[in-house]
Amino acid sequence: MSAPLETADLRARELVAQMTEDEKFAWLSGPMAIPFAHQQKPDGALGSAAFYPAIPRLGIPAMQQSDASLGIGNLGNVRPGDHATGLPSSLLLGATFNPELAYETGAVVGREAHAKGFNVQLAGGANLIREPRGGRNFEYIAEDPLLTGILAGHSVRGIQDQGVVSTVKHFAVNAEETGRVMVSSNLAEAALRESDLLAFELAIEIGAPGAVMPGYNLVNGDYASENAFLLSQVLKGEWAFPGWVMSDWGATHSTEKAMLAGLDVQSGANLDDQHYFGEALRQAVKEGRVPRSRVDDSLHRILRSLIVVGALDNPVVRAQPIDYSQHKLAAQREAEEGIVLLKNNGLLPLKLRARRLLVVGRHADHGVLCGGGSSAVTPIGSLSVPGTDIMGMPVAKVYQPSSPLQAIREEGEALQVDFLDGDDVALATAQAGLADAVIVFAQEWRSEALDAQGLGLPDAQDALIEALAAANPATAVVVQSGGPVLMPWLGKVAAVLAAWYPGVGGGPAMAGVLFGRVNPSGRLPVTFPASETQLPRPGQIDPSTTTSNPGSPRIGGIIPIDYDIEGSDVGYRWYAREQLTPLFPFGFGLSYTTFAYSGLHACALDKVSVTVTNTGARDGAVTVQVYVARLGNEGYAKRLAGFRKVLLLAGESRQLEVALEPRVLASSVEGRFVLQRGGYRLWVGDDAQDERLSMDVQAQ
Ligand code: BGC
Repeated sequence: MSAPLETADLRARELVAQMTEDEKFAWLSGPMAIPFAHQQKPDGALGSAAFYPAIPRLGIPAMQQSDASLGIGNLGNVRPGDHATGLPSSLLLGATFNPELAYETGAVVGREAHAKGFNVQLAGGANLIREPRGGRNFEYIAEDPLLTGILAGHSVRGIQDQGVVSTVKHFAVNAEETGRVMVSSNLAEAALRESDLLAFELAIEIGAPGAVMPGYNLVNGDYASENAFLLSQVLKGEWAFPGWVMSDWGATHSTEKAMLAGLDVQSGANLDDQHYFGEALRQAVKEGRVPRSRVDDSLHRILRSLIVVGALDNPVVRAQPIDYSQHKLAAQREAEEGIVLLKNNGLLPLKLRARRLLVVGRHADHGVLCGGGSSAVTPIGSLSVPGTDIMGMPVAKVYQPSSPLQAIREEGEALQVDFLDGDDVALATAQAGLADAVIVFAQEWRSEALDAQGLGLPDAQDALIEALAAANPATAVVVQSGGPVLMPWLGKVAAVLAAWYPGVGGGPAMAGVLFGRVNPSGRLPVTFPASETQLPRPGQIDPSTTTSNPGSPRIGGIIPIDYDIEGSDVGYRWYAREQLTPLFPFGFGLSYTTFAYSGLHACALDKVSVTVTNTGARDGAVTVQVYVARLGNEGYAKRLAGFRKVLLLAGESRQLEVALEPRVLASSVEGRFVLQRGGYRLWVGDDAQDERLSMDVQAQ
């Protein structure tokens, strides 16, 4: 039961007019709503990231905010025994290239949030992956603005259609975790608008999120939470964003400056050094340093967003039934579409019948890895091992309950399947020599506040894989990771799958791809570098020299990060511009069938038409990718301007139209997108480096 913006606008205005000063200020800042640092959970709070008290006389329900994009989190196990569906990582969603799936899985999150009594979901991770080692890349979708914006937008829509407000976050250029409260992401305005801001612009247009959360970092010298350019000029000004801006937890740094720049709410205020939006704001209003109308505008925005999704008319009621088995199936379907087959010399799909298979990998008998921090989802049956520490709270490394070993045993019924965790390399190697094939579950854990140090697999897993492949060339490696990893053993193994963090349906999804029940159709949403020397910034900041957590004593000064090195040419565009050959390009992914393209046709730059044929013997899905570059312009690297995923039966041929996003093609000139006249080259193919089909088009 959602309301149109105009009606909501009027109603919100009337409600604000009736609120007392105390009621207003109770909604402008709040602590984390969990027992934390000598503070108890507020009365009435379910226990989650934030709680704002109800105003029953006005029919305004409490605002209960929970994390995040991948399911309903349970920070610090504040709701003991609470079950939730853990979806695959957002990177895996990116690999599906499938907006409908983004909507459906967003709806899973929204339904669970609503049924548990939450009316705001801190979801919608839409940062671009500029730093492949970034600790939160698993919460983000891609290195490309079009793919990120479209999928984030559809996911947010899916959440909000269930009566729950979603954020998009962390606005903007929150690209790394090391020193996340100390780094200034520095980037020229035009490049910023053509890349990171474009992703948010598209996500906000498609998803119409009720709220935006700025990041912890600074952008061009000003904290994102008090950055007038980002919040007032672009978001609330040019984009006319009607929702509210809530700070990240412990990311508010001022009263006047932040309010006047466009911040509406100080979230996680107990992590800040001051209660900026409490007494200090009251005083600033009294003294006329912040206009009263500005405070009313903040409340108006919050209430309007809640009314729009139906949170006032259809308030959440705690403990509604949830169809967890359906949601688990949705998670599995997503994983099946987002796992990427990177190499296959013919070993896959496994055709072994009644023969011997060796499965190797730590905890692969129990479950699948999930990323750490506020977005972690811990369904009942999860295995937690020590991970890291965020803001003084231990953050476990969680294996969600979906055993790859059990799924392999079920999928390949007649096989003898043996399991080893791989800690004893000699034993694993000896067993590998006796098996018909070996499947290694390699893993790389990342977390909020914790970047990967280098792109190599941790814990000597490279050596383990080398040894297993030497003992048995029929070795397949399934990598669960929070982003790209290096693969020094690539030439020696028979097959490689990128499974990201595959969520609670991950076991059967991975087994389905290995045995061929599922024909893989995932495509890389990030470039896999051949080495770290290929990155725009090969070095990394030493985490011990800076502060990565809010609420912690500050070490050192503000660290500028120069994103002008690549500018808007993030990821594959950088590789094209620098003529670098990565390990695997953006958009890449194999299938158990083959596809051919023909008949490329375009009259203008708004859409292309192309015929795609499944030339193999199996049904399969293909993602048609259209890249565009401006002819004779060295400073304009190839850009993904449109994509479309389609399922084709074996032998089927289809003529498809793919719409192109005009802003991707344009350049940002004085804050406006301008399509330069002249010649453009279009490519259609399987990945960012595939140039087999091309044509030139003139822009008038
Ligand atoms: C994260 C946010 C999250 C918030 C509330 C912060 O540490 O950066 O993404 O929504 O905590 O848990």
